[in-house]
Parts: sequence; structure tokens; C-alpha cells
Amino acid sequence: MPGFELIGKEEKDAVNEIFDDGGILFAHGFDAIRNNRYRVREFEEMFAARIGVKYAQAVSSGTAALKASLIALGVKPGDEVITQAFTFIATVEAIVDVGAIPVIVNIDLTYNMDPIELEKAITPKTKAIIPVHMLGVAADLEKILVVSKKYKIPVLDDNCESVGAEWNNEKLGVQSDICAWSFDFGKTITCGEGGMITTNSEELFKLVREYHDHGHQYNMSLPRGLDTRRSPGFNYRMSEMQAAVGMAQLEKLNYIVEANRRNYKVYFDALYQIDHIQFRTIPEQCKPLCDTFIFALPEEKQTLEFLKLMKKEGLGTKNVPDAIEWHLASHWNHVFKHYGISKEELNIITQTSIDLLKRSVSIPVMVNYKEDSLERSANKLFKIASQIL
Ligand SMILES: Cc1ncc(COP(=O)(O)O)c(C=O)c1O
Repeated sequence: MPGFELIGKEEKDAVNEIFDDGGILFAHGFDAIRNNRYRVREFEEMFAARIGVKYAQAVSSGTAALKASLIALGVKPGDEVITQAFTFIATVEAIVDVGAIPVIVNIDLTYNMDPIELEKAITPKTKAIIPVHMLGVAADLEKILVVSKKYKIPVLDDNCESVGAEWNNEKLGVQSDICAWSFDFGKTITCGEGGMITTNSEELFKLVREYHDHGHQYNMSLPRGLDTRRSPGFNYRMSEMQAAVGMAQLEKLNYIVEANRRNYKVYFDALYQIDHIQFRTIPEQCKPLCDTFIFALPEEKQTLEFLKLMKKEGLGTKNVPDAIEWHLASHWNHVFKHYGISKEELNIITQTSIDLLKRSVSIPVMVNYKEDSLERSANKLFKIASQIL
């Protein structure tokens, strides 16, 4: 997730230009003194065009994008929303924050939502499905969309971690009803904090646009101070500075994805011939972002030994296992106890995911490597794997 690696002159110039243009940091108004630049609007248009979707709404974070999308889908207190056991906690927080009940299903070998478990979890109360495309790879969207159609339940993609991945030669994120994106500092492109919501539905777009900005209906025939409203909203607006940095980063997205894919291959080539390594399954329709290299070993004790040797060699991991407590629902007793689910029950619900993740190693793939440090790291991984397997 390397946008932060490339923060540089372009981002700095983009921010400086705002001050040259009158220093307006707000997306709206101040028309006479902003040199006709509306950077949040420009970022939305640019993002929609690059992703290949009709509408894009910039917001303050990926978490806000998820919440506003759930509101737009009409999810109400007491409704159930299904998501997966392996995700960042924000997905579940967004569900909780709209008063809905998070329902957790396990992951399969894509490390994303298992469509079979998804179908089993559907009840008359289910109002939305959130597959999360974790760490650069799509969930099995084809099967998930079949379930969505069969039960007429909308899909909100959490694509915060896979900006730039593809599905059937389109950008991942345009296949479902609505999609949430994140530009926080760990993401593929970053503006420090920020997010985007994309959709091809005009009505969903209007609803997220209104909700993210206190209910403003953006009635262009009226001054903002007299704007109309139909439902309450909140403030999840993006600022002009975030949008300026976001656009500079978006220009770098293709370069980032290409570099990720090239560097990922060095790791993959180092390990693919070693027996007993179970590589992450990538759905055939998906061209992944390749910002993370994930595999599992046959047994947990081998993985623990692998991790010990990695540490000794100065190699780090990404989320699994270093930040697993923020990414695996079995650790979220503080959330699920409010729904009458005990820690033991949570462990039972998420057992399949726990079993896979405790055997897994997840390695960050960066854009920039000094000299031959990528090859050296890949050689070290090969040495460790040969020693253990
Ligand atoms: C899968 C997933 N969903 C949602 C989010 C939330 O995004 P943000 O940090 O922009 O609120 C993140 C961020 O880490 C994420 O990884």
C-alpha cells in the first residue's frame, strides 16, 4: 500500500497552488476569490473517469464512505448487514454506527467473503452485503452477485484496500451497487485521510452526497445558505487540500500498480516451486493490485517458526500477524458483546478464518526498493521456506 512512498513535489505543488489561487480550503462557495478551482469536484470527476463509473462522491475517510453508503442503501437500526471475518474493523464500525447488526461470515482461500457462507447467513432482516476486497485481491464477486440478485439484497463493496485492482478488465469496484474507497495514509493512493464513494445509480449518488454534507441537496438554483433538504445528514466532507493531494496521487496510480505487480513477481518467483506452500487463491476474473504477498503453511507451528526466522532476518509482515487484532472479528468482543455474542461464540463463528489466518504470512510489497533489497528479501524468504518445509 505504497502511496506514501511517492509523496513528493507533485503533491507539494498541488497544495501550494491552492494558496496561489486564493487559499480557499473549502469545497463550496467563495466563488469570487478561488480562481474558478473546485478541487474536490475535480477530484470526484477525475476519479469517476479513471474508475469508469458515473458518479463519485469524495468524503473524509473510507469509514465515512462505508457509513454514508449504508445510509443511502436505506439500512436502518435493527437491520442485518453481512460482512466478512477478515477485514479492518472500520467495516463493522460503519454497520454498528447506523444502528444495524453486523453478521460475520468466514473467508475462503481468496482471504475474502465465502459466497457459500454468505448465502447461509441471509435472513429476512438482511439489508446489505459488504464483501471486502482485502489486501489487493477481489472476493469471488461473481458468486456474491448471484446471491445478491437471488435475494434482492444490494452489495456495497469495501474496496478500501484494493484501489487499482481489476475485475473482468474493468476496475474492481464498479460491479456492485455502490463502492467505498479509502485514501488514508496506508493506502495505494493517499491524501492523508480521505475516501470516495462510487456508484452508477443517480439516486444512491444523490443520497450519499446529501448525507455527507448535512443533508444539502445541492440545489444549484439556490445559494448554499438557502439550499433545500429532505433528510438529516452529517459532516463527512473532504477539504480542498485533501483533494489536491488526492489528484496528484491518482496520477501516480498506474505507476504504483505496475511497480507492485513487478515487485510481487520477484517474491512469487522465489517461493512458487516450494512444496506445501498454499498461495492465496485469486479469482480468475481478478487482476490483483499485488501490494501484498500472502500464503499459508500447512501447520501453525511452521508458520510461527517462519515468522521467527523472518524477524531474525529483518523482514516485516503486513496485518497478518502484526495487526491481526484489528483485522479479524474474533478479537472484537468489545463490539459483539452488545449483540449478545460471547467471546466463545465469536470464536466458533470465525473458526474457519482463524484457522487459515494463523497459518498465514502476509508480506508487504512496496513500490520503491533500495538497490537489490527486494531480491535479497526474496532470497531470504526462499531460504527460510526451504529450511522449514
Ligand atoms: C478494509 C478497510 N475498510 C475500511 C477502512 C477504513 O478507511 P479509513 O481509514 O479511510 O477510514 C480501511 C482502512 O484501513 C480498510 O482497510
